[in-house]
Amino acid sequence: MKENATALLDLIREQSQKNKKFIDAFADFLLLCRQSINPNLSEQAIEEMLIQHLLTERIFRSVFNNPDFAKRNIIAVEIEKVINALTSKSFSRSHFLSTLDRFYGAIEETAATIDDYSKKQDFLNTIYEKFFQGFSVKVADTHGIVYTPQPIVNFMVKSVEDILQREFGKSLVDKGVHILDPFVGTGNFLIRVMREIVEIQKSALPYKYEQELHCNEVMLLPYYIAAMNIEHEYFEQTGEYKSFEGICLVDTFEDQAVQQLDLFSPENMKRVQKQRNSNLFVILGNPPYNVGQLNENDNNKNRKYTNKDKTGIDDIVSATYAKASKATNKNALSDPYVKAIRWASDRISDEGIIAFVTNNSFIDQIAFDGMRQQLEKEFDQIYVFDLGGNVRKNPKLSGTTHNVFGIQVGVSVNIFVKKKNEEVI
Ligand SMILES: C[S@@+](CC[C@H](N)C(=O)[O-])C[C@H]1O[C@@H](n2cnc3c(N)ncnc32)[C@H](O)[C@@H]1O
Repeated sequence: MKENATALLDLIREQSQKNKKFIDAFADFLLLCRQSINPNLSEQAIEEMLIQHLLTERIFRSVFNNPDFAKRNIIAVEIEKVINALTSKSFSRSHFLSTLDRFYGAIEETAATIDDYSKKQDFLNTIYEKFFQGFSVKVADTHGIVYTPQPIVNFMVKSVEDILQREFGKSLVDKGVHILDPFVGTGNFLIRVMREIVEIQKSALPYKYEQELHCNEVMLLPYYIAAMNIEHEYFEQTGEYKSFEGICLVDTFEDQAVQQLDLFSPENMKRVQKQRNSNLFVILGNPPYNVGQLNENDNNKNRKYTNKDKTGIDDIVSATYAKASKATNKNALSDPYVKAIRWASDRISDEGIIAFVTNNSFIDQIAFDGMRQQLEKEFDQIYVFDLGGNVRKNPKLSGTTHNVFGIQVGVSVNIFVKKKNEEVI
């Protein structure tokens, strides 16, 4: 995977030295992405996007026999246009990509031996993890690219259904119960939610799928993988292919602020707007958290989300969790999982459930005293299943085999419940 990506990168770099058409088209693409996804996207991030697109497009076409994906997916359509502009005038696309054949060959040969979709899906999950770990370790760390083990996902979805019934007299199948995975990765959680819905009341699935299932992803490769996986699950359950409109390519921490810029894809913006207007009842998933960062001086810093109105997620963390803290060193609060809990707490309105599997440091570390205090104030019930696995705390655990994710930091499954009429002390 790494070789594949590196070879593509070399190709792009070569073109950007000598091909005027490529240079112009790339500059336009950069502008579009900055306007519609994130104003701070670096050139390198855009190169990575192109690489992720080209890799997945080919894998979806050849391994999954899904040649139409790039025509149907609203983002892929836009990127295809840029790639066509990049390749059409001065050289052919197939020629551009043919030098990579020997890299793809191995992947395609392996995949050719697998015939059922779920095994191919495992293969995609491996690509998801390995691509970032091999090619872009920095992204793997700041974005928390790890696939969530299925038993954890099962447990969380079942728990959410149980709490919905017990505390609210509701169910995942009910109309009005909007569900969001804000960090969708490969789509694991929503697929499991769809299966739960089918188990409880299959006829509820089409409406849910069209109106009340939502997810966000900021990286292109997982965005494509999630879209394809979720659409495939719907096809398996209903026999009908229907594109999934609940998926947004957006930075969750910016989703309330992204402007109506319909350049990149007006359809994507419409989806973001629709999600913004939805009254979310359940937010679940596996937020990013730094797994490799040993201390705050590591240069692999997370992006800061602040603005002059003090409405950025980092501003809100400062005004709440940090403000309530007595600790002198509050740096640990800049871990993205803390932002995710803050963001979700504000995003559900006066009632709802948040189920996140996260780093467990907030349970007992000193910098999180204010966060713990706030969580207690903001929620009526909090369930924390501490799965342990902090290698630094207990070196005897050695390596990562004692950790559910195979990482160094401890992990917990957390469920926060907020009820409307309950007096919160
Ligand atoms: C831990 S993974 C989720 C894995 C997923 N549950 C699965 O099992 O495949 C976190 C995902 O969130 C994405 N992500 C990170 N920061 C994000 C942000 N600010 N907005 C949207 N997605 C983000 C990452 O690219 C990554 O795919």
